[in-house]
Amino acid sequence: MALRPARAYRHTDLTTLGKTELLEVVRSQPIPEHIAVIMDGNGRWATRRGFPRVAGHREGVKTARAIVRAAEALGLRYLTLYAFSTENWSRPAQEVSTLMKLLERAIRSELPDLMARNTRFRVVGRPNGVPAAVRQGLEHVVRETQHNTGLHILLAFNYGGRDELVDAFRVLARQVQAGELDPDDVSEKHIRQALYTADIPDPDLLIRTSGEMRVSNFLLWQIAYTELWVTPTLWPDFGPADLYRAVAEFQRRTRRFGGV
Ligand code: IPE
Ligand code: IPE
Ligand code: MG
Repeated sequence: MALRPARAYRHTDLTTLGKTELLEVVRSQPIPEHIAVIMDGNGRWATRRGFPRVAGHREGVKTARAIVRAAEALGLRYLTLYAFSTENWSRPAQEVSTLMKLLERAIRSELPDLMARNTRFRVVGRPNGVPAAVRQGLEHVVRETQHNTGLHILLAFNYGGRDELVDAFRVLARQVQAGELDPDDVSEKHIRQALYTADIPDPDLLIRTSGEMRVSNFLLWQIAYTELWVTPTLWPDFGPADLYRAVAEFQRRTRRFGGV
């Protein structure tokens, strides 16, 4: 099928387009470099079906896998997935331990595929407090994929935006104490370099599923000028077409960064 040029889609209702057509549309225009996703709604997805919440997390892992593939089809450079926040430790112990196991197993079993597709895997968050087996499993995949040059997946795991800033302030305080940095010279650049995301560009687009209009302690510094896109769709129901629709809407926006 011959596709119309992207211009012709300017006023098209994007909900009428299928996955393949949406992908063609978004690929015909500049795509964002970095997309961050708050993968929310697993619990509600399961509860609505009368399943235990962990059944939703199991489905959520499948969605994450599909969205990584969709991001690769898009030609994205960086995809950050919020998998476990520092506040999520307050959930029932059984849910937390199942989540840990699910994530660790999913990432470990993905390794051959990550290597085959040249995908780099990294983790942002505090390693302290993560069960040793899970931490070692993640570190192994990070190490094995460190020279891959395709899509960078950043897994926000045991991640808190305020903790990240606390850790950055500690780095800078140590540099000042050691006489390597004059307090009057501290700039945005120094703060940026002290973050977990030191060498990674800020997200262009932040997607949140399940309709909540909040950032829940995610990438507080980095999202200063990020475009936000919230969908009522629950994470287990989110698919590649939803990702492409978010990008297509992003491409229609004008980013002003405080200018005119
Ligand atoms: C997101 O789904 C997954 C994690 C936070 C780990 P939730 O578990 O938050 O699902 P809801 O928001 O309760 O529906
Ligand atoms: C945000 O979702 C964290 C993750 C998706 C990992 P939450 O479900 O924890 O956020 P709140 O509690 O609705 O703010
Ligand atoms: Mg939630």
